[in-house]
Amino acid sequence: MLNYKHAVFFLLLLLMTYLKMKCIFPLFFLCFSAFSQSLYKEEHRPQFHFSPEKNWTNDPNGLVYYQGEYHLFYQHNPEGLRWGNMTWAHAVSKDLLHWEHLPIAIPQENGVMIFSGTVVVDEKNTSGFGTNGKAPMIAIYTGHEEGIRQTQHLAFSLDKGRTWKKYDKNPILDLKQKDFRDPKVFWHKQLKKWVMVVSLPQERKVLFYQSSNLKDWSKQGEFKDHQSFMGIWECPDIFPIRVTGTAENKWVFMVSLGDGSIAGGTGMMYYVGDFDGKTFKPRQKAQFLDFGKDYYAAITYNNTPNGRTISLGWLSNWQYANQVPASTWCGGMTLPRDLLLMKTTNGYKLYQKPLYKIEELRVKSAIFENILGNELNEKIANMKSQTLEIFVEFEPNDIEVEVAKGDNEASFIQYDSKKSLLIFDRTKSGKTDFSDKFAGKYTAQLLAFSPKIDYFDRLGNTHKQYPDKLLNLRIFIDKNSVEIFANNGVLTMTNLIFPSENSNGLQFKGKFRKVEIHELKSAW
Ligand code: FRU
Repeated sequence: MLNYKHAVFFLLLLLMTYLKMKCIFPLFFLCFSAFSQSLYKEEHRPQFHFSPEKNWTNDPNGLVYYQGEYHLFYQHNPEGLRWGNMTWAHAVSKDLLHWEHLPIAIPQENGVMIFSGTVVVDEKNTSGFGTNGKAPMIAIYTGHEEGIRQTQHLAFSLDKGRTWKKYDKNPILDLKQKDFRDPKVFWHKQLKKWVMVVSLPQERKVLFYQSSNLKDWSKQGEFKDHQSFMGIWECPDIFPIRVTGTAENKWVFMVSLGDGSIAGGTGMMYYVGDFDGKTFKPRQKAQFLDFGKDYYAAITYNNTPNGRTISLGWLSNWQYANQVPASTWCGGMTLPRDLLLMKTTNGYKLYQKPLYKIEELRVKSAIFENILGNELNEKIANMKSQTLEIFVEFEPNDIEVEVAKGDNEASFIQYDSKKSLLIFDRTKSGKTDFSDKFAGKYTAQLLAFSPKIDYFDRLGNTHKQYPDKLLNLRIFIDKNSVEIFANNGVLTMTNLIFPSENSNGLQFKGKFRKVEIHELKSAW
């Protein structure tokens, strides 16, 4: 992982060699290697998920693909391990797996913090900020003045997001409201206009605006679910998506629920429906996007190649995000997920697929068929790791997979066949006492595949009918998290854990059709 700090270091190195400071040189080198070795090696530090080099992060912001780079801006406190001084930090990646940290993109200034928002590439220079035929990147985000108001602001970049200039006529939208935030902007192909969805959190309502130049916006409509009574609404997103295997197009509206999610505290839900740039008409009730406790503020990438819908979320929960164990950094992102919309016998469902590039990190694999837990445990006795990908396929009988297992702790993934429940239990997962909201058992209804539902591979290609009466789980353990993708991604469960470093055992119970265990190396 090379970044600008390394470049500065090497320049210094050259200078020192030039000055022939031969005695200081080895000392300096030792200090540097100690520094770079401890980074991303800290206790609980994720190895294939994104986390900031140091200090706090919450929401991913401004997700956009441009000229070979996936940009990740994120809510960041440059000065501390807990929330505050909100600023947009920045990283880029060519494959959504290996990230390069870049300098702060948009800093807080004059009492205005930089809250969540979006980035678009203004290819046609509708904003007029482009010069010499260069398409500007435009960030639209919430300016937060503590206790006073929230307004929408614009900043632009002419150098692939490396430096940003705030628009001198900010704010571009001001309703004189204390809570009015998290704009998501995208180019609406049919209308040939920019569309913004932005939240009035306390009213659990979103507003739709349109613009032809990204600076002047006019309100077109709003959406509120009159059956939703819990929490506040934050970080809305709306995007068109093709129903896999058909010519049908639908729109998905997703939103973060500030309280009262399925597992408690903050979480996310989504609606499937139709949208004309003004009115969103849901075609079915809201569904939860994830059944764990730690999936929040996810949004999708703008401008992706091949029209893929890729989402990224914050892997935490506001109930305890400011209390979780933190040493040099705090907070991180979920795995990037490809979203596919399927028409099933139970209506439209979003399938979430983990980034398949992760397979490149496999260093040691063990694959078994038709095996019982006891036999398996003997064969894998020496597979000890806290960075793993596990795939299990089983008939609807009771099974259990214990991960991050130590002498007195473990996280349990179970299937209760009588109740058709998937269970994740982190009550004994390690450190839990930093908040009384952390330890818990989270459940979700998970039925075996029916032969009527097609089997979709990770890219959404329909291959064959999945054999009847089988279930599968793809599980990623990455030091401080367990992400479960059940039945090819129709249900996900994302949770933090804080096990001790030596709790790296694995144990299986029950009968399995297939088990794959892959040890993963670090992406950092
Ligand atoms: C969601 C959120 C957003 C806000 C940001 C502030 O997690 O509360 O609504 O813009 O975090 O950091």
